[in-house]
Amino acid sequence: MNMPTTPPELAEPHIRGWMAAVGLDAEYVRASGNLLYLADAAGREAEVIDFAGGFGSLVLGHNHPELVAHARDLLEAGVPIHAQFSRSQTANRAAALLSEIIQRETGSKERHLTVFANSGAEAVEVAIKHAELDRVNRLAALEVDIDSRLRAAGELVRGGAPVDNTSGYPLPVEDHDRPAGAGPGLLERAIRDHNAAAMARPPVLLALEGAFHGKLVGSLQITHNPGFRQPFAALGRPARFVPVNQPEHLVKAFEQERVSLLAPVDAGGVVRIVEREFSLVTALVLEPIQGEGGIVPLQTDFARAAREVCTRYGIPLVIDEIQSGMGRTGRFLASSELGIQGDYYVLAKALGGGIAKAAATVVRESRYRPEFEYLHSSTFARDGLSTAIALRVLEILERDGGAAYRRAREAGGHLREMLLGLQAEFPDVVREVRGRALMLGLEFQDQSSSRSAVIREYAGSGFFGYAAAGHLLQHHRIRVFPTASATTTLRFEPSIYLTGGQIDSLRVALRSVCARLRDHDEDLFPPLPPM
Ligand SMILES: Cc1ncc(COP(=O)(O)O)c(C=O)c1O
Repeated sequence: MNMPTTPPELAEPHIRGWMAAVGLDAEYVRASGNLLYLADAAGREAEVIDFAGGFGSLVLGHNHPELVAHARDLLEAGVPIHAQFSRSQTANRAAALLSEIIQRETGSKERHLTVFANSGAEAVEVAIKHAELDRVNRLAALEVDIDSRLRAAGELVRGGAPVDNTSGYPLPVEDHDRPAGAGPGLLERAIRDHNAAAMARPPVLLALEGAFHGKLVGSLQITHNPGFRQPFAALGRPARFVPVNQPEHLVKAFEQERVSLLAPVDAGGVVRIVEREFSLVTALVLEPIQGEGGIVPLQTDFARAAREVCTRYGIPLVIDEIQSGMGRTGRFLASSELGIQGDYYVLAKALGGGIAKAAATVVRESRYRPEFEYLHSSTFARDGLSTAIALRVLEILERDGGAAYRRAREAGGHLREMLLGLQAEFPDVVREVRGRALMLGLEFQDQSSSRSAVIREYAGSGFFGYAAAGHLLQHHRIRVFPTASATTTLRFEPSIYLTGGQIDSLRVALRSVCARLRDHDEDLFPPLPPM
């Protein structure tokens, strides 16, 4: 008989080894609601309270019973899961409900169309591609228009019409003595050369400092953290990052990232050369509350300025609600609290209800490019299982007059109050509490002058938050993680089913960590392992 053997560790073993060294190694055997379960060698289970919430994908908790039952029913009924290029009423219903919710919440009069995807980063790339297609098509339409004007103006100039150059660019005087059929004259050629050079300028994606939009080759270009982005920078076009909550920088970026095309217009027998501005910006992409950047909410003024400048330049505003959306902040979209409407919304994480991989790029109808559907596809996107789960997740959120949103607000309010209490009690340890409802962050004060050598070492290493998380897991059975790009901020994203008891357990655990940090406790963390 073959004895069962432990297979070699080949699934990303190095990071796991590192996690083990800081106390974050755990293998869970079961999950339900806000709880994960560890098992010892004898099979005895121990509860861990999960505040990491699948990095934001568990608005409805682990293995929500209704979603599990729904998935089981779907599989037992043999629903077609992979029937690409066929009609899917489930996908349609999910898209229609998404449109209805977004319209209700943002007050938009327009319907929204959905392109499904498999992951957050992929849905972000769908948005980027769609926006670039839109830009290229707008540019092509402008080129066609200018081309026909140039031909008409050429005739007028040949016939002796005067030229009035109102553009800021020096242009040659037309050679009126050219023989008929000699092709474009000096003026037309100069305008065409100018325009060709302007149109060849590459597009620019605008994003915010601290942004996190994913780690695929395209989405990575708008993820600000240089540690993640730089090694792969040569694979994509560099984006332009503007500081958060400083509207003047955003407006300046738009002003700088534009070109002027020259176009002749017939001004009553005079050929007037005018400038037509064209923005090089493909899209402005932002998170209403930056997640991995450290739970940083956008200020209302800034969000409104972003909306306003996008409208002024005719550029799509892409709102990445992958982490902040789906009810977590007490509304379906965190951005609707800011009073802004996006041209695109990107959703993922909780859309799959914690059991499916689902993502969606939702586009306002008047900005939607139907031809995108022929140009973009993915085998697994819009499959029968994930769209059915997504539809049920939306129905659960919307049920009972939005009880889920109220629950998020209430539970989040209690959690926030508790964290603020800790900040008041340990002002030398807790720097700030940020966020809304069930998307909260607690930033530690810089500990690099702690009297504990180990704490100091972690503070200077960028791994302080991981050490705190490891301690919370090992000693208090609390699961929490720092945000990916701001690692002294712990992020709390539990489900709407968070209980007062669970908040209290977190309070006890965090109090103990804060007290030991305040007391410069040398034994709080294990020695820093080499990366
Ligand atoms: C705001 C935001 N956008 C995009 C992503 C990328 O999503 P995924 O990890 O599913 O690719 C994340 C993931 O954390 C995110 O928080």
